[in-house]
Amino acid sequence: MEQTFLMIKPDGVQRGLIGEIVSRFEKKGLQLCAAKFIQINEELAELHYAEHEGKPFYPPLIEFILSGPVFAMVWKGDQAIGLTRALIGKTDALAAAPGTIRSDYGVHTNFNLIHGSDSVESAEREIALYFKPEELLDYEHTI
Ligand code: CMP
Repeated sequence: MEQTFLMIKPDGVQRGLIGEIVSRFEKKGLQLCAAKFIQINEELAELHYAEHEGKPFYPPLIEFILSGPVFAMVWKGDQAIGLTRALIGKTDALAAAPGTIRSDYGVHTNFNLIHGSDSVESAEREIALYFKPEELLDYEHTI
């Protein structure tokens, strides 16, 4: 069982796509562990995207991620990291396969609707940046 960190970015929130995107992960059979609707600050944005510091797209990325609220989530399931990345699609909307979130709704590499962890290590790091351990709910489906 894996856990992964997903975050609907300001463009996904502003375009009214929270429900549509969450629905795709629910229908896939993944389990929601935690969610929060937040305005992140510069310190958190820089920690989140530390690996991209110095790249040409880093300044616009930070500016964009701070431009409005985001919807941060933790999901779990077998192969949750790979499955969610497959549903999200490639970073560039043009390269993303039809049927993926970024292909269906994305228009630009910088405004690509959602972030998803790319490895177990990234997932652990990103979950810890956004959530306290007690905010992650562990429950069985009973119905
Ligand atoms: P995300 O999955 O949040 O991780 C880094 C983000 O940087 C990426 O999505 C894009 O929004 C943005 N970005 C812009 N240009 C590039 C690029 N050339 N390669 C990777 N990420 C990029």
